[in-house]
Amino acid sequence: MNIDNENKQILQMRNVSKIYKGKGSLFRSSGKDVIALNRISLDIYKGEIFGLVGESGSGKTTAGRLIVSLEETTSGRIFLDSREVTALKGRELKAFRRKVQMIFQDPYQSLNPQRSVYDTVSEPLKIHRMGKASDRKDRVREALKAVGLSPPDDFLFRYPHRLSGGQRQRVAIARAMVLNPEFVIADEPTSMLDASISAQIFNILLTMRNRLGVTQMFITHSLAAARYLCDRIAVIYRGNLMELGPAEEVIKNPKHPYTQALIDAVPKFGHSKDARRYGTLLSKDHEVREDKGCIFYPRCAVADHNTCPRREPGLSQIGIDHWVACFRQGSKESGLTPFTYGLAEGR
Ligand SMILES: Nc1ncnc2c1ncn2[C@@H]1O[C@H](COP(=O)(O)OP(=O)(O)OP(=O)(O)O)[C@@H](O)[C@H]1O
Ligand SMILES: [Mg+2]
Repeated sequence: MNIDNENKQILQMRNVSKIYKGKGSLFRSSGKDVIALNRISLDIYKGEIFGLVGESGSGKTTAGRLIVSLEETTSGRIFLDSREVTALKGRELKAFRRKVQMIFQDPYQSLNPQRSVYDTVSEPLKIHRMGKASDRKDRVREALKAVGLSPPDDFLFRYPHRLSGGQRQRVAIARAMVLNPEFVIADEPTSMLDASISAQIFNILLTMRNRLGVTQMFITHSLAAARYLCDRIAVIYRGNLMELGPAEEVIKNPKHPYTQALIDAVPKFGHSKDARRYGTLLSKDHEVREDKGCIFYPRCAVADHNTCPRREPGLSQIGIDHWVACFRQGSKESGLTPFTYGLAEGR
């Protein structure tokens, strides 16, 4: 099914949840279900770099895997170019797999050690029968040059063990880019790399967007990286969308206590007066959470003890394109459901 769409949106997630069923073990009959994502709704605009930020286990990779259709949603829907991803089959699914690519966190695991750089980067062309066999080497050379592996002939027949971590990640990006995708998900692509190599990888991603207009979802736990690269960011906490808005705005003027806590947690140099600007994160949970209310309530220092443990805050709009799920911010009832967010004026 298609939904009404404006040109600006390339991807839409609507009330997307993913629950991993508890498996149980030798000693227990059933394990606990894990709610990896809880009714996430968001839009990604054409040509932007959209940051998905959250701590470990918050559901970032799960979101990426659902979007590229490596896994199925438990409920909710995902649309790319207003086509429902989960409904795609046959030729349409194949076309989708060409248009959407994912770059994984660990370049040591994502490349096959037995395949040369040429094999790795040309494989998607073969799978999708793109270009003549005789042209493939040129396309691979172009892709290697675009990610800074120059001269490409020095790298074509190397195997991963002869590449540094940064070079491996460049090969992984070249493999994703060789298909001219419309949308790329980069899942913590630099978490295994040192700072200067990370900066080079960030610049490749920026160039991909600036020169080729490739829309990207950049997954990170680092607000600093998100600020450098992203136009808008979404902050998630234990599978729930907490805040969403323009990157500068969310980082300079964070509204959700969790975003504030993340900003407090960024290491700062020297003894800056505002090293802890917000102090919204309690070190200890102050009350056991029932299965309702705000997911952040147990860790929130500014919670309203009547409302927050009992009701779940929906997203409220608090500025142009700036949304927050917190009763302490904006109007309690904005009248806007998460479904309408992203269709706000101003973009
Ligand atoms: N295949 C799976 N089976 C069961 N639980 C899973 C599975 N994949 C992920 N989870 C759980 O879902 C939650 C979200 O995991 P996810 O990998 O999406 O987090 P993340 O934000 O990417 O974390 P990290 O920053 O560590 O990569 C975690 O609690 C994780 O343990
Ligand atoms: Mg992850």
